[in-house]
Amino acid sequence: MKEPLRVTITGAAGQIGYAMAFRIAAGDMLGKDQPVILQLLEIPPAMDALEGVAMELDDCAFPLLADIVTTDDPSVGFKDTDFALLVGAKPRGPGMERKDLLKENGKIFGPQGKALNDHASRDVKVLVVGNPANTNALIAQANAPDLNPRNFTAMTRLDHNRALGQLANKTGSHNSHIKGMIIWGNHSATQYPDISQCTVDGKAAAELVDDDWYKDSFIPTVQQRGAAIIKARGASSAASAASAAIDHMHDWHLGSNGEWVSMAVPADGSYGIKEGVIYSFPVICKGADYEIVQGLEINDFSRERMTATDEELREEREGVKELL
Ligand code: NAI
Repeated sequence: MKEPLRVTITGAAGQIGYAMAFRIAAGDMLGKDQPVILQLLEIPPAMDALEGVAMELDDCAFPLLADIVTTDDPSVGFKDTDFALLVGAKPRGPGMERKDLLKENGKIFGPQGKALNDHASRDVKVLVVGNPANTNALIAQANAPDLNPRNFTAMTRLDHNRALGQLANKTGSHNSHIKGMIIWGNHSATQYPDISQCTVDGKAAAELVDDDWYKDSFIPTVQQRGAAIIKARGASSAASAASAAIDHMHDWHLGSNGEWVSMAVPADGSYGIKEGVIYSFPVICKGADYEIVQGLEINDFSRERMTATDEELREEREGVKELL
């Protein structure tokens, strides 16, 4: 049997954390032969609820679950952790501006970055789910100077999976027959879901759907899907968000089999996106690492949207510059 790997979930008593913990314990994230220790981090008012989550995890008798730690102390929650899923965040309150939201979340992600820096495994892989995810990841990264900056990422896999679902439904195909999907930029309404490189059953997607559907229906539907789920369900996406986070970490750890997936990662100048923001790119994962797909041709339509979402990220960065 392999040695257990440690997985931290913050906000583990919340709805995404609840949807995520059981699947990770069942082996969906790190493999069906990989024992895990779950380190569940919450804030004091949620500790009773968190104990309930731990009781249910016990009651599942998962063969791969080696231990459960519950805590409201980040130095315990991140101790020696190999994978940190930063889900817990402060939601936008009534009348709160995006800038205030950024600052409030900075108060969470700054100290958590520092706790990761001081206590986590030196190879810890970090995924920020809590919104505004890209900028929260930037704040955590800036507060963890001893860790590899490349290991701070944010989640756009849910957007990627949503885009696959929309295109599969439109073309009457299955999501597994679609290759080359890309989400560029920020996990926000400025994100750019790009099908210019996509194939469906080996045929160019752009030739299977008309341009009006792509621009006027597909792009806004993917961008606004979170709001549509809230309207329909009366609560924000939870199981799908948890599933996407598991996909992100699974592929990063075990590889994406040569397929492109979208991950928000530190910009390195690829496609003209300068360093200093966590920007979603198409990547291929292998060897427990990711590489941005290079050499794609960017048309004017794409460039305009890639720049708009980059500008939004730089504004967010400006709003939290004292935390970086
Ligand atoms: P929720 O409100 O059900 O749960 C959040 C949990 O985080 C709560 O239990 C709360 O006590 C905890 N928490 C707050 N501050 C904390 C801290 N400093 N340390 C540890 N735990 C803390 O929210 P839900 O639905 O689970 O969503 C969580 C976040 O994920 C939200 O910010 C949401 O906007 C974001 N999200 C991101 C998506 C993405 O694609 N990137 C998709 C869907 C949601």
